[in-house]
Amino acid sequence: AKPYVFITMQIPKEIVALLEDVAHVGMWEADTPCPRDKLLEEAAKADALFTMVVDRIDQEVLKRGQNLKIVANMAVGYDNIDVETAKHLGIMVSNTPDVLTEATADLTFALLMATARRVVEASQAVYEGRWQSWSPMFMAGQDVYGKTLGIVGMGRIGEAVARRARGFDMDILYHNRKPKTEAEEKLGATYCSFEDLLQKADFIVALTPLTDQTRHLFGRREFELMKKTAIFINVSRGPVVDEEALYHALKEKQIWAAGLDVFHQEPVPTDHPLLTLPNVVPLPHIGSASISARMAMARLAAENIVLALTGKKPKTLISEDMWTQYRFK
Ligand code: GLV
Ligand code: GLV
Repeated sequence: AKPYVFITMQIPKEIVALLEDVAHVGMWEADTPCPRDKLLEEAAKADALFTMVVDRIDQEVLKRGQNLKIVANMAVGYDNIDVETAKHLGIMVSNTPDVLTEATADLTFALLMATARRVVEASQAVYEGRWQSWSPMFMAGQDVYGKTLGIVGMGRIGEAVARRARGFDMDILYHNRKPKTEAEEKLGATYCSFEDLLQKADFIVALTPLTDQTRHLFGRREFELMKKTAIFINVSRGPVVDEEALYHALKEKQIWAAGLDVFHQEPVPTDHPLLTLPNVVPLPHIGSASISARMAMARLAAENIVLALTGKKPKTLISEDMWTQYRFK
């Protein structure tokens, strides 16, 4: 019998067709998350799950999947998946690195520039008739060119952001668990302690994955260490920031502005305190959302599933032991 694949949200037909070559395919045909009971029911039948960042793939889902071979997440991050349980059960997990790196770095820079130069706030002023005249300090913001960029989490996306920053003649600082000497040479980036980075950078960009170690990495103390003119950019995951502390820092002008592509709760409620501040640029988790990047991510997730279902090693498992511990190998 053909294996069965369940896709948790609507994806383009041509990607579904790749899967249909090797499997029967079921799909939650909507642009809103697959309901929990449906997900549980499908997991029980599926040989493979094609998942999104909004799906919580926890122990309950994984345990239902008696035939489950792979969970292919259409994202580089996989904090939505209980990886420990997957490993323990011998279920493979894959993500979609590399294909979204440049698109996400582009969006990071868009958010950085929009926040520094008050692009959204200024545009709103035009719509709302608050553009009364050119005037010397109207909508004056911060420079980007020649400033200091601090990257927290120098992975592939961090490196791509650093390459863009060089064109703006920025000084580049970064902090990681361990220094990346190749990156330093290639990018002219300087390793520094987390505290040093917070104190010296004009732009602090969070690009670290969400883990137990990075949850609320940015809290009251961290914002207090930043410059009054600092701009904080988050394109990783909402929970790396204590949102109450961020609100307080922005409200009290401890820092100058924030650009946020991610939130604790997504969609962020429209009455969220952060959305009441003019010095916040919020975006709806669109870091990788260029048409070509999203198509490449979907294709890569599908390819990983096809490989798994034909007994081959998927291209982008989140770690090698996913293959060595795979239960149906
Ligand atoms: C999106 O947030 C991703 O991790 O790809
Ligand atoms: C993280 O995985 C990154 O690509 O920066």
